[in-house]
Amino acid sequence: MKTIQLNATASIPMLGFGTWQLTGEDCVKSVRLALQTGYRHIDTADKYGNHGEVAQGIKQSGVPREDIFITTKIWRTDLAKDVVPASCERFLQKLQIDYIDLLLIHWPNKDIPIGETLEAMNKLKETGKIKAMGVSNFTKHHLEDALKTGIEITNNQIEVHPSFKQEEMKAFCDEKRIAVTAYSPLGRGQDIALPVIQEIARKHSANPAQVILAWLLSRGIIAIPKSDKQEEIESNFKAPELVLSKEDIAAINVVPQGPRLVNPEFAEWDY
Ligand SMILES: NC(=O)c1ccc[n+]([C@@H]2O[C@H](COP(=O)([O-])OP(=O)(O)OC[C@H]3O[C@@H](n4cnc5c(N)ncnc54)[C@H](OP(=O)(O)O)[C@@H]3O)[C@@H](O)[C@H]2O)c1
Repeated sequence: MKTIQLNATASIPMLGFGTWQLTGEDCVKSVRLALQTGYRHIDTADKYGNHGEVAQGIKQSGVPREDIFITTKIWRTDLAKDVVPASCERFLQKLQIDYIDLLLIHWPNKDIPIGETLEAMNKLKETGKIKAMGVSNFTKHHLEDALKTGIEITNNQIEVHPSFKQEEMKAFCDEKRIAVTAYSPLGRGQDIALPVIQEIARKHSANPAQVILAWLLSRGIIAIPKSDKQEEIESNFKAPELVLSKEDIAAINVVPQGPRLVNPEFAEWDY
């Protein structure tokens, strides 16, 4: 599996396994299956309420912890400097691990100064509790504020899929050496139905999800599809084997753009 070097101590596998809305036994089973299939990158968040189940899935898989890249996220109301370390301790306990590979700010919050949060996260990095730090759902302006602190921002996890390409944000992140992770890479399943995706899949005897994931990887974007079905977990994992032609990529690049699929009322897109 190809990886992207985030900093001196963290290297993120380009295909990971998403766990939003996976809870209970379904989450335990899906994480176990994903790891047994070969995924070595699990994406979770405090807000998903599944740290305990992710831990059980990891344990049941038999895959050593040090072989797995674990991303989790701190919620937007927990970004004050005294809340960050306590939250991290809670995550470590629930996940039954002694370090987090990548800790992200889940959503920006203009009411808490970004420098305060990043300084608190940086202390966690200095003590080895986290290996790398990053953000999610940050606009260019949020990123500029964060970069002004001089503290490392290795990753921006944002919505990206064929009908929501995020070209400008990707170019900005490239310029600032920030890796981009595509969440909802399949458009929450919706982009699978796009005729151009279906047609390219038929041509390659692949499935549409593999075409979308291969397109993201070809753009240098990390992807974290979610599924609770063994067949899909396995076929998504094979996506890096699919090599798209220049024509395929060009055809996907002109898919008409649609609205955001993840758009909560507290989002700060206008910042
Ligand atoms: N940072 C953030 O704010 C944020 C926001 C959203 C998501 N995320 C992360 O990104 C991950 C992925 O995003 P997502 O869960 O929103 O959506 P997604 O991965 O784009 O799509 C998931 C949907 O696609 C279906 N699917 C998966 N593989 C398939 C395949 N091979 N063929 C057909 N259908 C398939 C799944 O069905 P089944 O489940 O029925 O198999 C599910 O309904 C999340 O789990 C989470 O870890 C982060």
